[in-house]
Amino acid sequence: MAENNSVSYHTYTPGNNAALNRDQVLDFLFKHLDEYGDQRQDIEKCMNYALSEDAGKGGSVLEARENGQVVGALILNNTGMTGYIPENILVYVAVHGSTRGKGVGKKLVQMAIDSTEGSIALHVEPQNPARHLYEKLGFTNKYLEYRLTR
Ligand SMILES: CC(C)(COP(=O)(O)OP(=O)(O)OC[C@H]1O[C@@H](n2cnc3c(N)ncnc32)[C@H](O)[C@@H]1OP(=O)(O)O)[C@@H](O)C(=O)NCCC(=O)NCCS
Repeated sequence: MAENNSVSYHTYTPGNNAALNRDQVLDFLFKHLDEYGDQRQDIEKCMNYALSEDAGKGGSVLEARENGQVVGALILNNTGMTGYIPENILVYVAVHGSTRGKGVGKKLVQMAIDSTEGSIALHVEPQNPARHLYEKLGFTNKYLEYRLTR
């Protein structure tokens, strides 16, 4: 895969996010998650949790920029649990439609893996090609996920 050297990557955490333009990243995720997205206000809750300094919360927000524009973003939440539940949940990752297939998504997920300790859970719809990305980075799907939605 070609390395795209014009893309810069940034990691924001609870103690280091003054330089983050929250609205730009939220707008980006709301638009580029495509059909796998959520309401903007829910993505914002996830970001606020990731950047919270409250005990048991936290995580990271990663962004990729090219020519000043956001071309990729990822949000990871710490669960506050350990051992019986994975320590982290990778909640959102998206890359701009015109930037896909150049390794940006893989780099963001690899950075998220490197930025935290413990296991990382995520869910992905069976038909989403993002599965290929996760599997290439070592994620497995031993479990089925069931939800009581209400
Ligand atoms: C999923 C997504 C983030 C991948 O980003 P990307 O920058 O295009 O992915 P990469 O170029 O880093 O690809 C990483 C690997 O996954 C594979 N891959 C990525 N998309 C693929 C696809 N549609 N089909 C097959 N393989 C794919 C690549 O071949 C690559 O493997 P390689 O390193 O062996 O070449 C991007 O497609 C996206 O934003 N999708 C819409 C939002 C979404 O579905 N998010 C995930 C659910 S929350």
